[in-house]
Amino acid sequence: MEVVNTITALRSLLGPIKLAKQKIALVPTMGALHKGHLSLIDLAKQQADFVVCSIFVNPTQFTDPKDLEKYPRPLEHDLDMLRTSGCDLVFMPPVKEMYPKPENWHIDLGPAEFLLEGEFRKGHYQGVTQIVKKLFDAVTPDLAFFGQKDFQQVLMIQKMVNYFSMPVRIITCPIIREEDGLAMSSRNIHLSAEDRQDALVLSKALYYVRDHFASLNIPELLQEARAMIQSTPGVELDYFTIADGATLMPVLDKGESNIVALVAARVGQTRLIDNMILS
Ligand code: PAF
Repeated sequence: MEVVNTITALRSLLGPIKLAKQKIALVPTMGALHKGHLSLIDLAKQQADFVVCSIFVNPTQFTDPKDLEKYPRPLEHDLDMLRTSGCDLVFMPPVKEMYPKPENWHIDLGPAEFLLEGEFRKGHYQGVTQIVKKLFDAVTPDLAFFGQKDFQQVLMIQKMVNYFSMPVRIITCPIIREEDGLAMSSRNIHLSAEDRQDALVLSKALYYVRDHFASLNIPELLQEARAMIQSTPGVELDYFTIADGATLMPVLDKGESNIVALVAARVGQTRLIDNMILS
């Protein structure tokens, strides 16, 4: 497995792969890798000839400087995991490589940018799409893999790809959960033993909604799910919604074909998100 830090080195390694018309997959990450990331690498290996993983903690997508500062960066551990995963190339640029000069990035991501995460983390998706565009330009992958856990992120990245008509296929991969249901996340590392226990209410509420989707109406489902979370001490609910998977607008009609439940909450000092596709 090669590890490179510059776009020039990355391009010179990818040149022969492209000349040989091999399919290149990119798995963009911010490091602090877990089994969820490995599942992305695994799926990427099944669908492409050459897998690139990027590790870059992107400053422009953090709305809180403290959050950026405390973001976990266990680099050696990440590289060990990637070596055993069968990843072919790791791109690990310093900030100056991706942002040689300050840039004002603003593109139209549509109204869904401002909902849910966009409401709580203003400008977040401008930062996410800015770095993903830079990574796509550097790697020019045929396929790029993202986790469904960041449901809204995948939607925003697809918008960006459409906006620039980029020839890359976005693949959404299923959420990987711990045995007790907690969605895997790099941020779980910050949970105390008590927080870890409290955090389970998020997946429990999602499973409740999934299991009662046929028998209860949407206001009843929302009421029960929100009550479960709000009655858990140590958990502060930001939102629990049942929404259209394309627009993220709340839905009232269970007959729609693309319905997803999405939740975000602060558990102790850590903000977690999760979701479940209902139809
Ligand atoms: O999901 C993430 O880890 C990040 O938002 C991403 C897509 C790598 C962009 O920095």
